[in-house]
Amino acid sequence: MTDTPLPLIIDCDPGIDDAVMLMMAFLSPHLDVQAITTVAGNVPLAFTSRNARMICERMNRTNIPVHAGCPRPMVRKMVTAEDFHGESGIAGMDVFEPEVPLAPGHAVDVLIEKLSAPPEGGYTVILSGPMTNLAAALIMAPQIAQGIRELVVMGGADTAGGNITPSAEFNIYADPLAAAIVFDAGLPTVVLALDATHQVRAEQVRVDRIRALPGRHAELMADLLDAANRLELRWRPGMQVPMHDPSTVGWVLAPHLFETKRCRVSVVTRPGKDFGRTKVKDSARGPHRWVTVADADGFFALVEDLLKAPA
Ligand code: BDR
Ligand code: CA
Repeated sequence: MTDTPLPLIIDCDPGIDDAVMLMMAFLSPHLDVQAITTVAGNVPLAFTSRNARMICERMNRTNIPVHAGCPRPMVRKMVTAEDFHGESGIAGMDVFEPEVPLAPGHAVDVLIEKLSAPPEGGYTVILSGPMTNLAAALIMAPQIAQGIRELVVMGGADTAGGNITPSAEFNIYADPLAAAIVFDAGLPTVVLALDATHQVRAEQVRVDRIRALPGRHAELMADLLDAANRLELRWRPGMQVPMHDPSTVGWVLAPHLFETKRCRVSVVTRPGKDFGRTKVKDSARGPHRWVTVADADGFFALVEDLLKAPA
């Protein structure tokens, strides 16, 4: 990576794994998180917006503005995922009311404003929840596509099968129309779908290694991962929690840990058994890159390095 930190916008729905992702981004000196935008997803918008601010506060990054976005998906009824994230959305962390309020400005307006006046080279944008905010921004102001250097998406499933229906992954299923709008925009996009994230799991020995590191950040991350594992094991016996959202920051910081194939992704938006499914068409000139292989040991070594770096 270059010496200049990479300008980053993170659109998320914290969520335990979104929280771990935010921690990783905050810990890296190579990333300049300029805004966090929140969306309804794992839990309702008021909770995702509070949870993002709780993480900012626990990480001493209250300088980063958190803007609340869309409180519901475009057309369909809202689905949430308390079973995997706890009622607060952030099991493993005591809930508190953050001191710093939400930043003024709706997330969609902020995305339009920032992406219309990008830094040189453009913004890297991470989407780790339903894609409602960016989809709305692209409809209102299609020219913002020019401000995006790379879109890094956690969402979708192909060979792995789904996690909310047999074929659909949660973030896409929660707002398939939004996902279709974003993928159809043809932006340069890297997709961390379940095919990749299921390869990177928080096995107990990995969490224990994190917990053994000095400092309160390591303790907080281990608490979050232990809580996520307890919930995952309740629903999927024998399976440790996959590092869905944290893989996006893994890609941004260490793309050599991943293998990709070029393709074009589309989304099934008509009702039926495949509603919310992603379809991946191999295409040498396609705008999307689908991650096929992820190096789990390399990823957790990266996480440990981030936690070891001086705060
Ligand atoms: C995705 O769904 C959410 O529950 C997680 O935060 C992640 O973004 C995984 O399917
Ligand atoms: Ca998420």
